[in-house]
Amino acid sequence: MTNLNGKVAVVTGGNSGIGYASAQKLKADGATVIITGRSAEKVQTAANDLGVTGIVADVKDLSAIDGLVEQVKDQFGKVDILFVNAGIFAPAPVGQITEEMFDHQMGINFKGAVFTVEKFLPVLNDGASIINLSSVNAYTGMPNTAVYAASKAAMNSYTRTAATELAPRKIRVNAINPGPVSTPIFAKTGMPEEQLTGFAEALQNRVPLKRFGQPEDVANLVAFLASDAASYITGGEYNIDGGINVNPLLS
Ligand SMILES: NC(=O)c1ccc[n+]([C@@H]2O[C@H](COP(=O)([O-])OP(=O)(O)OC[C@H]3O[C@@H](n4cnc5c(N)ncnc54)[C@H](OP(=O)(O)O)[C@@H]3O)[C@@H](O)[C@H]2O)c1
Repeated sequence: MTNLNGKVAVVTGGNSGIGYASAQKLKADGATVIITGRSAEKVQTAANDLGVTGIVADVKDLSAIDGLVEQVKDQFGKVDILFVNAGIFAPAPVGQITEEMFDHQMGINFKGAVFTVEKFLPVLNDGASIINLSSVNAYTGMPNTAVYAASKAAMNSYTRTAATELAPRKIRVNAINPGPVSTPIFAKTGMPEEQLTGFAEALQNRVPLKRFGQPEDVANLVAFLASDAASYITGGEYNIDGGINVNPLLS
C-alpha cells in the first residue's frame, strides 16, 4: 500500500472501469478523491458507491473542464494527483473513417487529455503527479484502431514533452500503456455480444499470461506512480499488458 495521506487526487472518467478501480485504490491509500465523468447519473452513483466526490465534466467541452477546475479549487484547494483517464474506444477500418469519428475520438482521447492538464496546471501543487492513461495500441498496428492508436501515440509524445517542461516545478508526468483490460469500454462500441466474445477470446490468446488485465492491476500502478515512492520517475511509459507487447507473435 502506498501512502497518499493528505493528497488530493482527480480521476477523469472515474465512474467506470480503470478510473473507478483507481479512485477506489487512491482513496484506500489515503487520498481525498474526486471523480469526473460525462453522465450525471453514472458519476453520482459511482461517487456514492466509492464515498468520494463526483463532478460532471465532459472533457470534449473545454468550458466544462474550466468549471471542473473551479469547483475542485473551491472545495479542495490544490491538487496533487491528476489521473487523465477518460477515454473511448471507437474502432473503424481505414477507408471508413469519417471526420466526425476522427474529431470525436481525438477530441476525447487526445484534445480532452491535453486540455485537462492545461487547465489543471494552475491548481497543481509543485511536486504533483500527472498520470496519462494511454494504451499498448500506441505501438501496434491492430486492425480498426488507426485513430484510437494515433490518439494514444499522441498522448505518449505529449507526456514526454510535458515531463520536460514541468520538471522545474517537480511535477512528474508519466504514461501507462495497458493491454486488454476487462472494462465496459468494449461493450460501449456497440459491437454485438457474439462479436465481442470472439474479439475478447482472440485478444486473450495473444496475451502470454493468457488473461485480460483487471482494472485493479492498473490501479496499483497508478497508485505507485502517484506516490512519493515514484519521486524519481518522470517522462516514463509503463506497459501493463500480460506481456502482449513483447511477445505478440506467439499464442
Ligand atoms: N479497457 C482496456 O482494454 C484499455 C486498454 C488500454 C487503454 N485503455 C484506456 O483506459 C481508459 C479508461 O478506459 P476503461 O477501459 O476503464 O473504459 P470505461 O470503463 O468505458 O471507462 C472510461 C471512462 O471515461 C469516461 N468518459 C468517456 N468519454 C468521456 C468524456 N467525453 N468526458 C468525460 N468522461 C468520459 C467514461 O464515461 P461513460 O461511463 O459515460 O462512458 C468512463 O467513466 C481509456 O482512456 C482507455 O482508452 C483501456
